[in-house]
Amino acid sequence: MTYIRSQIVGCGHYLPSKILTNDDLSKIVETSDEWISERTGIKSRHIVAEDESTSDLCFHAAENALKNAGISASEVDVLIVATITPDNLTPSTATKVASRLGVQAGKPAFDISAACSGFVYAMTLADNMIRLGQAKNAIIVGAESLSRITDWTDRNTCVLFGDGAGAVVLQAQEGKGTIEDRGILTTKIYSDGAYYDSLKTTGGPSTTKSTGFLWMNGKEVFKFAIPAMASSIEAVVEEVKIGLEEIDWIIPHQANIRIIDGVAKKLDVDSEKVIVTVANQGNTSAATIPLALSESVASGKIKKGDLVVLTAMGAGFTWGGALIRF
Ligand code: UT7
Repeated sequence: MTYIRSQIVGCGHYLPSKILTNDDLSKIVETSDEWISERTGIKSRHIVAEDESTSDLCFHAAENALKNAGISASEVDVLIVATITPDNLTPSTATKVASRLGVQAGKPAFDISAACSGFVYAMTLADNMIRLGQAKNAIIVGAESLSRITDWTDRNTCVLFGDGAGAVVLQAQEGKGTIEDRGILTTKIYSDGAYYDSLKTTGGPSTTKSTGFLWMNGKEVFKFAIPAMASSIEAVVEEVKIGLEEIDWIIPHQANIRIIDGVAKKLDVDSEKVIVTVANQGNTSAATIPLALSESVASGKIKKGDLVVLTAMGAGFTWGGALIRF
């Protein structure tokens, strides 16, 4: 029996050129490089230029991913953008990016909103479309211009976020239905709206008629994040009946080095297997995982055949995991 797998055939990323350091931030709010480094592991983050928007970040990341895959935009069947900072509330950023890339008119393109879990959600949707035969080639992008919805007077949040984008091209390939197949082996996504107010923007079109700024109950998010991300990893690994020790790489959402270390400790996995980019990028929400994946593939760290697990947690709360044989 033929078994369709969604294989990652190309990765790309893009970071805006402007860099904001902790020392720069200490000139804006009452903070210090020491506090930010110790409490979050962040040293600097990238910030979009005045004339740059999320669709520009998506475009560059997706173009790089297509080049890496060696396919043209005209072969793409669906484009999904995970973001909470779209260019406009409507239409979706995905339609703008698809058109600029040269994806054929008529192909579906849409955004999804699942905050920091957005990329894992997008991967789940694209994988399902591919396995159902609705798409052969899919581009999924995680992209944010969080600096646009950051309250630059609030030291509790403004030190945490950054801007950037990462993209992957997924392609339908025949597999055997075993864990030796290359491609997405399984994904799991979750939400619990009881935590709706714990991490949010302070506004929205149907409430305040504005976007508002990012706000969070940091301690509550922190407490939830470690068990949620660890249990997502356990769930995908258990689903395909492998041991955690067989995993080559863990790519966790990059919000805080203490959360990342907490997940590794809870699972008792070697920290050398955990990919960390938070120091020079901060938290770029839906973009952290595809950025880390693309950088790790480009540097030769992640190789063909490696077992990679992704995990994220964010506003909603939403969380989830994905297991991939690269
Ligand atoms: O992607 C998912 C979304 N986000 C996250 O996952 C973030 C989750 N939360 C966190 O990472 C952490 O809770 C934070 C990094 C946000 C905060 O770290 P914390 O260790 O929980 O610090 P805290 O909020 O308990 O604050 C400790 C102290 C406070 O002072 P007092 O009340 O003890 O005098 C804060 O006012 O640190 C103060 N503080 C700061 N000081 C210098 C808060 N922000 C800053 C700052 N610089 N930027």
